[in-house]
Amino acid sequence: MPTSYSYTLSKPEPHVLVIFGASGDLSRKKLMPALAMLAARGALPDKFSIVGVALDHLQDSEFVDISLQAVPDPSPAWKEAASHFRYVEGDYGNPETFQRLSTLLKEIDDTTGTGGNRIYYLATIPGLFATVAESLKAAGCISSPDAGNFTRVVVEKPFGSDLKSAVELNRRLHACFDETQIFRIDHYLGKETVQNLLALRFANAIFEPVWNRRYIASVQVTVAESIGIEHRGAYYDRTGALRDIVQNHVMQVVALTLMEPPTAVSAQDVRDEKVKLLKSVEIINPEHAARRVVRGQYGSGVAGFQSVLAYREEDGVPEDSDTETYVAMELVVDNWRWAGMPVYVRTGKRLPDRLTEVVLEFKGVPHLAFKSRQARLLEANRLVMRIQPDEGISLRFGAKAPGESFDLRSVSMDFSYEDTFKQEPPDAYERLIHDAMIGDHMLFLRSDEVEQAWKIVDPFLDAFGHGDVPISMYRAGSWGPHEADILLARKGHAWSNP
Ligand code: BG6
Repeated sequence: MPTSYSYTLSKPEPHVLVIFGASGDLSRKKLMPALAMLAARGALPDKFSIVGVALDHLQDSEFVDISLQAVPDPSPAWKEAASHFRYVEGDYGNPETFQRLSTLLKEIDDTTGTGGNRIYYLATIPGLFATVAESLKAAGCISSPDAGNFTRVVVEKPFGSDLKSAVELNRRLHACFDETQIFRIDHYLGKETVQNLLALRFANAIFEPVWNRRYIASVQVTVAESIGIEHRGAYYDRTGALRDIVQNHVMQVVALTLMEPPTAVSAQDVRDEKVKLLKSVEIINPEHAARRVVRGQYGSGVAGFQSVLAYREEDGVPEDSDTETYVAMELVVDNWRWAGMPVYVRTGKRLPDRLTEVVLEFKGVPHLAFKSRQARLLEANRLVMRIQPDEGISLRFGAKAPGESFDLRSVSMDFSYEDTFKQEPPDAYERLIHDAMIGDHMLFLRSDEVEQAWKIVDPFLDAFGHGDVPISMYRAGSWGPHEADILLARKGHAWSNP
């Protein structure tokens, strides 16, 4: 009998949260709603304030209004918290902005009792991350890790646009902050079902023995989106699906699915294992990369019963753009557990559904005693971990249909989060912001992890840049270009489409 499950979140120490880019989309659409939810759950510190920093000319009261309007029905706790929010207008390149910020932070410490504890949230455009960090340092706003109070910085994605720029960004951040003070966000790690990969694998004795190349024929990771690029034409056209989703979200899911068991579920041990796994992903040269990847771009079509524009017709996208909105790749993980078993990953915009899942396709039985045609055609056993939506896990296996003969059918055993725990999983940002507030690094990316993921992706980017991987067009609302099916068919596999 399913029971309703409730959870509580601990109260973080007093601090001031400074949001750079406070009037931007990320802050309004993700951060404020998550903070409002934390307030409603009683999970914000008793002594707390938010300072918004941005270029816009705003009064404190207007920033308070923005914070309240970010949620449809603000709770009394969020209204009370928001009434203390402050705003600093200014250019991030101007030292004067940071002097005013520094003075305001000291004033808040005196009036609110936040004890010099700071979290700086960089929700600006990526080109400003290092500038803001350097300006904070120059204004004396960063205390050392062994000071009596804490300074943390939360950095949004994208973290660099290739290996070289990521190394450079790490270098500049490390000149201002200690690695223990840096929290690099990949919001996929905040999703309950991504974390559940750890629970499924390492809290259950039945899965781990078959979790290897002897029993598994292939692993597939799909991040499918039905939305297009949503008014982000200019940004997206410089970025493309490989940088936007594969280098970060997909690599994280691959690492958690394939890594070795950690000694403990701790920031150090889990991240060590993820890095070890990413290090075993073969780095191929750009000439070979072209044979392992398919790039696609959506044409016009139908999504959600509506006609939609082709990518090249979207605002901000050049009409001859060859940026990919879809990518499918085969990765090779060269280690004892996985050698020789293909790992297929794909992501795309304007696909038929929003769907993120990991599929383990198992090998067949060594000898099939059933001679019927259905038995021979029975689909492979599959373990499907649905990260979103309909969060849950299904196991597909063959069963005998009622009757005299051995008529075999594929059936599913299903676990649904919502049915079991009687609630939808909490929002990823809520979880991650709270973790940064309590100083837990486990769901944040370490510098070596980010750089290793770029090492894997860079040769593919080079191959794209050299024009070695042609763009295949696909109709909006379809499952992507036909070439992606061929990529798997070469080794006798097929995508597991719903
Ligand atoms: C972001 C990408 O990181 O993830 C977006 O920049 C994408 O392009 C989004 O739409 C998907 O996130 P989610 O949580 O909706 O799967």
